[in-house]
Amino acid sequence: ENELAIDISKLRALSGLVTLDDGFVNTGSTLSGITFLDGEEGILRYRGYDIAELAEKSTFLEVAYLLIYGDLPRKPEFDAFRESITRHTMIHEDLKRLYDGFPKDSHPMATLGSMINTLSGFYTKEASDPLDPVGRELSIHRLLAKSPTIAAFSHKKSIGHPFMYPNNSLSYVANFIQMMFSVPAERYEVDPVVERALDLLLILHADHEQNCSTSTVRLVGSSRANVFAAISSGVNALWGPLHGGANQAVIEMLQHIQSEGGNIKKFVEMAKDKNSSFRLMGFGHRVYKNFDPRAKIIKKTCNEVLQKLGVKDSLLEIAMQLEEAALKDEYFVERKLYPNVDFYSGIIYRAIGIPTEMFTVMFALGRMPGWIAQWKEMIENPSAKIGRPRQIYNGSTVRPFVPAEKRG
Ligand code: ACO
Repeated sequence: ENELAIDISKLRALSGLVTLDDGFVNTGSTLSGITFLDGEEGILRYRGYDIAELAEKSTFLEVAYLLIYGDLPRKPEFDAFRESITRHTMIHEDLKRLYDGFPKDSHPMATLGSMINTLSGFYTKEASDPLDPVGRELSIHRLLAKSPTIAAFSHKKSIGHPFMYPNNSLSYVANFIQMMFSVPAERYEVDPVVERALDLLLILHADHEQNCSTSTVRLVGSSRANVFAAISSGVNALWGPLHGGANQAVIEMLQHIQSEGGNIKKFVEMAKDKNSSFRLMGFGHRVYKNFDPRAKIIKKTCNEVLQKLGVKDSLLEIAMQLEEAALKDEYFVERKLYPNVDFYSGIIYRAIGIPTEMFTVMFALGRMPGWIAQWKEMIENPSAKIGRPRQIYNGSTVRPFVPAEKRG
């Protein structure tokens, strides 16, 4: 019996029992009860509710509650939640002054990540101990409430307009639209078509289990860093073009194809060429291998929104031709590369009047409740451990130190 009582950590060290899973293709990093995703069947559910049903019947703030607290809210619960989120929409005047230090053309994702991290400095007392449930709750509400204000101020800064303060008589999404597009001394009414379209886009982006940015939030948060620090790291992870930055990259790609004469075939061929670094942005997904259920909903909404707003966008035509050409091409079929959520989202954002550099910020606003819910689930789990992946070392073996004068 004694012989069998082997110290598992020693065994690992001796036999090199470390799993190498480049890009975490098969490795589950956590148990989670938030989002169910079946990539083969194209199923996405938040807390058991199908994404298509939530997109049709719910609102973003209700979905945020669902993700964060686990159930659809009853009326008093939702009223209290909405009231608290509404109360925290303003940002501290000193935080507002930080915008002065950013150059006018700085990318709004740079501003968003920095400002969210800076919230740690403003709310240190309540946020510094993530294990304190009261401080945790307050910090979560502050983050959800202030993110649209921070995002809209980034936009106003970039165009040199004065910041528009939150109007707490409006809904979460309408308030954001108002802060983005209204100007002082001019009457502004939020278009309900725009409000609904944006609400829907945010719902579709609200969570997606252990993607790159969410895993980043969990990894940073696992050290018990405060929620603002953990989620600003998620914002930065989202920025990359292979993740949330894809929605901006899609529009830039479609514009490029258009400026080159709209030769779809040429670009499809280029994407297949392994010697070129060009990829069809908005195509492919690590998990969805038949279709992305969010893309299906967005494509339908995209047509409806353009029609209702009376917007004609030639980029939509190019996008549809590109989709058709790629879906007929053996290369894309073999590799199961389908349009993902971001292939069409940019076209809706354009129709609404959101500038291209703000697209990834829109994604971040949508993903905020998901990041919060995932962070909260981890922090509330008493057996959660600090994240600490291993590696397989493939560098030099031991080498004697050579003094500088003898290195030649
Ligand atoms: N265009 C052309 N070829 C592609 C594309 C594409 N968009 N995506 C994947 N491929 C090819 C790869 O070259 C590879 O080919 P090979 O087997 O001949 O080497 C094969 O398909 C598998 O691709 P991987 O990069 O190994 O797949 P992975 O799961 O690592 O990447 C990713 C998924 C990053 C989404 C990828 O498909 C991609 O870069 N897409 C474009 C960027 C994009 O739209 N990102 C948004 C993702 S969704 C989101 O974050 C909301």
